[in-house]
Formats: sequence, C-alpha cells, structure tokens
Amino acid sequence: MQTNGANLSVLREKKQFFSANSKAIIFGASGGIGLSFLKACLVDRNFSSVIATYRDRSRAAGIFQLANQCPNRLQAVQVDVTQEEDINQVPDILKSGGGSLHLAINCVGVLHEGNDFQPEKRLEQLSTENLLHYFQVNSLPTALLADRLLPFFRHGDRSVFATISAKVGSIGDNRIGGWYGYRASKAALNMFIKTAAIEYKRRSPNTILAALHPGTTDTQLSKPFQGNVPPEKLFSSDRTVDQLMDIIYRLNSTHSGEFFSWDGMPLPW
Ligand SMILES: NC(=O)c1ccc[n+]([C@@H]2O[C@H](COP(=O)([O-])OP(=O)(O)OC[C@H]3O[C@@H](n4cnc5c(N)ncnc54)[C@H](OP(=O)(O)O)[C@@H]3O)[C@@H](O)[C@H]2O)c1
Repeated sequence: MQTNGANLSVLREKKQFFSANSKAIIFGASGGIGLSFLKACLVDRNFSSVIATYRDRSRAAGIFQLANQCPNRLQAVQVDVTQEEDINQVPDILKSGGGSLHLAINCVGVLHEGNDFQPEKRLEQLSTENLLHYFQVNSLPTALLADRLLPFFRHGDRSVFATISAKVGSIGDNRIGGWYGYRASKAALNMFIKTAAIEYKRRSPNTILAALHPGTTDTQLSKPFQGNVPPEKLFSSDRTVDQLMDIIYRLNSTHSGEFFSWDGMPLPW
C-alpha cells in the first residue's frame, strides 16, 4: 500500500507534551469531536488559555457549560467559517489573549444539512450550490486559518495546527465512489494542509501541520450512516479525541504536512 512516507517509528517515540502556559484554539467546538477536544485541552493544565469557536449559540450549550466551570481559561467566540469577516476577527482575539498559540484544531465540517443537502450517491444529484457549500465549509477555512494563525505560531516552542479531515478524502483509497462533494472537499483540504506545511517550514519551522482522520465517530454528522458500522468500529467522540491527542502529542517536524489515521498510520493521498 502506498503511504505518504511518514516515519511511524518516530511516531511511536516518547510523547512531546505542550509546555506550561500553552494556548489553544478549537474551531467547531460545539460539534461532537470539537467539544471532546475542548474538554481534553481544559483537562490538560498546561493550557492556560483555550478559545472555543461555535457557529450558532443555540447549539453551543456544552461550550458555555464548560466556560462557567473554567471562566479564567476558556473564551467562547462565534465564528461561522463561511463568513470571512468572522475568520478575520480571530487574530484580534488571539492578540488580546497574549499573542501566541501552541495548538489549533479545526473540527468544523459538514456532510449533510437537511433534505436538500445530502451526500450524493450518483452524478445526477450534483449541484453547484451544494458542491460549493462543501468546499466553503470543509476546505477553504483551513487555508484562510493557516494564514491568519501564522503570526501567532512564530515563537520558539513546538506548536501544532491540526485539521480533522476524513479517510474518504483520500484519492488513493477511494474504492466505492459516491459522496462527491464531501470527498472532493476533504481532498482539497488535504492539499491545503500539505501546501501550507511547506510554507510553514520556512516561515514557522516549529509548527507542525497535520490532517487527521478520526475514524467513524458517533456524532450528529455520522448518525445517518452508522447502520453498517460494527459497534467496535464506532468510536465515542471522547475516545476519538484521546486517540487523536495521542498522535498530536507525538508529532514532530518530520510529520508536518502528513495525513494520519486515528491509529497513527499514515494515509495515502
Ligand atoms: N463523525 C465521523 O464519523 C467523522 C468521520 C470522518 C471525519 N469527520 C470529520 O470530523 C470533523 C468533526 O465532525 P463531527 O463528527 O464532530 O460532526 P458534528 O458533531 O456535526 O460537528 C461539526 C461541527 O462543524 C460546525 N460547523 C458546520 N458548519 C459550520 C460553519 N459554517 N461555520 C462554523 N462551524 C460550522 C458545527 O457547528 P454547529 O454545532 O453550529 O452545527 C459543529 O461544531 C468534521 O470535519 C468531519 O468531517 C467525522
């Protein structure tokens, strides 16, 4: 099987945890995986400040509950990633929080949204409007964030910018077809991560960029498609985040720009 050439033995080396007084931002923290990442960062006392973004306050109760418990460490910010002005306000928020960043995770994603926005099974179901929406939510924000977050990563410590991709975005692994928009938008996301990682090597060499496949995780996004998934292959979002944090902790600069599955294995592009 073709791989991206990431060195797995390095992945298995000692964990590289974040140092004290680290700062994190989780995009899409109202979602299943995003909220579990937020909890994981708050449990890690090395993160002195965590920013959680949500799109719709009425769907973000979990974030606000955590904010009540950790008023000095957690800040909730509204960011609809399809609105560039929302993304543009992120640097100001980071500046007011001290100006450095050690971990950013983009957990925003869309697969379905009501009857008119469902993953396509056949070519006749393709529409420009829906295809654009997949790219607007799943691909473009990570590219824009790579730009807006760059100045905050440029410090002496190790830092990580991870984005939650999906194995179905692997072109090499595509054997069953379907889900045109979702697949293509995740493939584009992967290309953005790879390309930005090359530029970061020059401009922010201590920052590792990675695309991560979470495995099938029991969230609102996967709910309609869980029928054929055996129970042992359907992860809780807390388990998924535990597995992905383990990867994030172990990543070093040789892994930047790679695409990893939940078990630490590199995935083919
Ligand atoms: N669950 C799986 O089995 C699975 C498998 C492979 C990959 N993934 C990927 O994992 C990531 C997290 O998904 P999940 O499973 O946690 O799904 P989820 O619970 O549906 O979470 C999706 C998140 O994206 C947010 N979002 C959607 N559109 C947005 C927009 N325009 N602006 C800002 N936020 C927006 C949602 O906000 P609202 O709360 O406002 O809707 C929610 O926070 C996604 O990228 C998904 O593609 C998931």
